[in-house]
Amino acid sequence: MPVGRRKARVLCVMMVLNIFICILVGVSWNLGHDKSGRRKVRIPSKRFWRRQVLSESFWNKEQQRLDFIHNPLLKAALSNNSLVDLPDWLNDTGPLDPCEPDYRVSTQIWDYNSLPQRFQDFLLHMRCRKYPMRINQLQVCDKKPFLLLAIKSLAPHFDRRQAIRESWGRAGVLANRTVATVFLLGNATSEDHFPDLSGMLGHEAELHGDLLQWDYRDTFFNLTLKEVLFLEWFGRHCPRARYVLKGDDDVFVNTLRIIDFLEGLPPVRAKDLFIGDVISNAGPHRDRKLKYFIPESVFVGQYPPYAGGGGFLYSGELALRLYNVSRRVALYPIDDVYTGMCLKKLGLVPDKHKGFRTFDIEEKYRENPCVYRRLMLVHSRTPQEMLRIWSWLVRPELECQ
Ligand SMILES: *[C@@H]1O[C@H](CO)[C@@H](O)[C@H](O)[C@H]1NC(C)=O
Ligand SMILES: *[C@@H]1O[C@H](CO)[C@@H](O)[C@H](O)[C@H]1NC(C)=O
Ligand SMILES: *[C@@H]1O[C@H](CO)[C@@H](O)[C@H](O)[C@H]1NC(C)=O
Ligand SMILES: *[C@@H]1O[C@H](CO)[C@@H](O)[C@H](O)[C@H]1NC(C)=O
Ligand SMILES: *[C@@H]1O[C@H](CO)[C@@H](O)[C@H](O)[C@H]1NC(C)=O
Ligand SMILES: *[C@@H]1O[C@H](CO)[C@@H](O)[C@H](O)[C@H]1NC(C)=O
Repeated sequence: MPVGRRKARVLCVMMVLNIFICILVGVSWNLGHDKSGRRKVRIPSKRFWRRQVLSESFWNKEQQRLDFIHNPLLKAALSNNSLVDLPDWLNDTGPLDPCEPDYRVSTQIWDYNSLPQRFQDFLLHMRCRKYPMRINQLQVCDKKPFLLLAIKSLAPHFDRRQAIRESWGRAGVLANRTVATVFLLGNATSEDHFPDLSGMLGHEAELHGDLLQWDYRDTFFNLTLKEVLFLEWFGRHCPRARYVLKGDDDVFVNTLRIIDFLEGLPPVRAKDLFIGDVISNAGPHRDRKLKYFIPESVFVGQYPPYAGGGGFLYSGELALRLYNVSRRVALYPIDDVYTGMCLKKLGLVPDKHKGFRTFDIEEKYRENPCVYRRLMLVHSRTPQEMLRIWSWLVRPELECQ
């Protein structure tokens, strides 16, 4: 083919393409605008939002009620619209005093009478979030701690608390940072066949000044209460602490490693920090024999990502926001899942950090001091093990690669 004709052909193809593009642009402009050139409003032919399905499960219903009463726009719009029949429970405020047992739940949950006792106890008191303090400490945060260790304990666990005080949880200055420690307690009641320990606790509180105790029954399903009451206490008595580590009294925490990690954090990450042993894609267990069993009549749905309750680390600023949002999240009987739900409401996702080993480390590493140097938290350890591992970490001659 002569060069001239090839050029002409290329030109021709380009022109056809150009005309085609012009037509496309014109057509799409015409579709988006009316005759006078104004933009047409596009109305989608199908529903593009998620329909609120009213659930039959008790917790889900309670959450929908909270979502409703905390959504002023929706509330106003719906209550003005006589065409929408709202179900009664959406607007139900319950007994005047939310801390009186709400016996109506026995008829609102279809299998209430066959549920294990702990569920009945939980459901009757689910709306109560106010319990008086029996022991408080007002001076713990006077020195504006860099790190507050908040340890969930049970009244009779005197040896665990003492081991923590003598090892990784010693309050004072560590690695040039201020560390404060509090132990979170409910009431070990005679109803649960605990001996009366109030005298010994009073003595312990005076001696160490690190006990916080609220007057509610300290049970597994009430751990969520412990979480919410602690967050409230934090906002009131410790709002300027930079970071919080919340954990169980049977974990070992490498406080040195944690401080080192926090010091290296860029400020943008520090603000929304929430790390731990994160569990994703989990849901309720339906096997009645399990500790974590949840019946369908109480909850349906997936769990949001959450950090295992053995221990997690978050910023003080986030703790304040968590308390704020917790008022809009119905209490759930499993405390770490509940914290995950609150984070989700804030639009946050907890970060998984491999230093948090709530399912322990391989057996062959458990006696290796250098392995503990790199860890942040490991579950579970006895009081004696805590003291032994801590002595390895603070030994200056310990050489690890
Ligand atoms: C609902 O009614 C109130 C007064 O009855 C009115 O002030 C308000 O604007 C209405 N809201 C909506 C969303 O229509
Ligand atoms: C909610 O209950 C209150 C008092 O019981 C009533 O005045 C109000 O109309 C109810 N609103 C809706 C949306 O049902
Ligand atoms: C210890 O911390 C203070 C203030 O937080 C700082 O001024 C000082 O330089 C630190 N000392 C060392 C050795 O890091
Ligand atoms: C807490 O325990 C004390 C005694 O240890 C008891 O007098 C009190 O009634 C208990 N509170 C609750 C709510 O059970
Ligand atoms: C939680 O504590 C409250 C107050 O002491 C008690 O009435 C309730 O039975 C407890 N719930 C569970 C599940 O133990
Ligand atoms: C808590 O919520 C209130 C209002 O809902 C808001 O004014 C306040 O700033 C919030 N506090 C935090 C720490 O998010």
